[in-house]
Amino acid sequence: MRIMIVGNGGREHALLWKLRRDAPAASFFATHPNGGMASDCENVEIEATDVETLSGWAASNRIDLTVVGPEAPLAAGIVDHFEKIGLPIFGPHANAARIESSKAYSKELMQNAGIPTAEHRTFTDLPTAEAWILRQGAPIVVKASGLAAGKGAVVCMTEEEALKAVRSMLGDFIFGEAGREVVIEEFLEGEELSVFAVTDGEHAVILQPSQDHKRVGEGDTGPNTGGMGAYAPVSIVTPELMAEARSKVIQPTLHALAEDGSPFRGLLYAGLIQSKSGLKVIEFNCRFGDPETQAVLPLMQDSLLDLIATVAEGGKLTPGVASARSDVAVATVVASGGYPGSYEKGKEINIPIQLESENCIVFHAGTTRRESRILTSGGRVLAVTALAPSIGQAAKASAEAAGRIEFEGAFYRRDIGWRERSRQDQKKS
Ligand code: AMP
Ligand code: GLY
Repeated sequence: MRIMIVGNGGREHALLWKLRRDAPAASFFATHPNGGMASDCENVEIEATDVETLSGWAASNRIDLTVVGPEAPLAAGIVDHFEKIGLPIFGPHANAARIESSKAYSKELMQNAGIPTAEHRTFTDLPTAEAWILRQGAPIVVKASGLAAGKGAVVCMTEEEALKAVRSMLGDFIFGEAGREVVIEEFLEGEELSVFAVTDGEHAVILQPSQDHKRVGEGDTGPNTGGMGAYAPVSIVTPELMAEARSKVIQPTLHALAEDGSPFRGLLYAGLIQSKSGLKVIEFNCRFGDPETQAVLPLMQDSLLDLIATVAEGGKLTPGVASARSDVAVATVVASGGYPGSYEKGKEINIPIQLESENCIVFHAGTTRRESRILTSGGRVLAVTALAPSIGQAAKASAEAAGRIEFEGAFYRRDIGWRERSRQDQKKS
């Protein structure tokens, strides 16, 4: 079997790692593979968003299955292109990917289908949006509707911050087209969860729930990032909560998308929050989360390839929950000094050879291979996933291993999984 992965971040390295375990005899290909992926697959020198060229390449290179990591190629219609020429591909069509690529669309869909989410309004006109903010007061959340590389949501604790955010989007167009439409919504408080559902458009297999750490600093402080670490499973997710996520969020969303003429086949990521007024959707994504995937996939026992191939070939899934080993996984991201602001690239990375084991995996993200050397090439450089019987052990092992990776300016959060650890500590005392 010949499998191509589109994308080259930490999530894609984790996908490659898992799919190689599921299909050891398969040949793998990836677009511009990072320094960790490069030794395990062949390099496809085509941009992930150049969907037309990619579909032609996949056809002439007899690719049996394509798995898409990032949202941008999905929004650009990669699945539509591949399907037109009969090539199996895992991911939603561009229309269904709007669940992520247009927050205005996603909110409207949720509102019409009665899916619990923050109260919201959509604006394209600055004075109207400003007036709305002044009427609602703070805290309030201002979001660019389109894709803004994870930077489009601004949680504002004061009216001034909210006015500044909306002016930057509808006045200065800092996100370009992506911010010409803005969603302003109610501020919700509570613990966040990432729930991944592999779906054929109707039925879903739910993977282990995980939790991301978006802020750059320990104790969840400082600016938002793409994600500084993740762990799975999350003990607040009881079987009842999981059933609620399925019956009140995942199933009605799939139904609403299908009714809308855009059935969603692929990975539906529900970003949920357990607020005082119940479980609500913060956002939907049309792809696996990063860095949650680096925690979720190492625990997964079922074959991901079977699920993905079934969906890509137009088959039906048996609804359920994917089986996972009973351990806890903690993934700690090692980032470049300065991230999420500006940072330097090209720093040589030293990963001790003894670091990796069955229970400690180093997933590369912003790295590149130059002969025998590995250099930094992005803000989030690596994620170190440790697996252990308890959150305490896994968090300790992950942080320790992250600390042994060296490059100039490297930093990481030492507290990934802190909420879960304090829950477990409370249980003990
Ligand atoms: P999003 O891009 O929509 O995922 O938002 C990024 C992050 O902003 C989320 O993970 C939350 O931490 C925060 N956020 C988004 N929407 C809200 C909301 N309505 N209330 C509170 N925090 C939010
Ligand atoms: N970890 C957040 C995301 O993938 O969007």
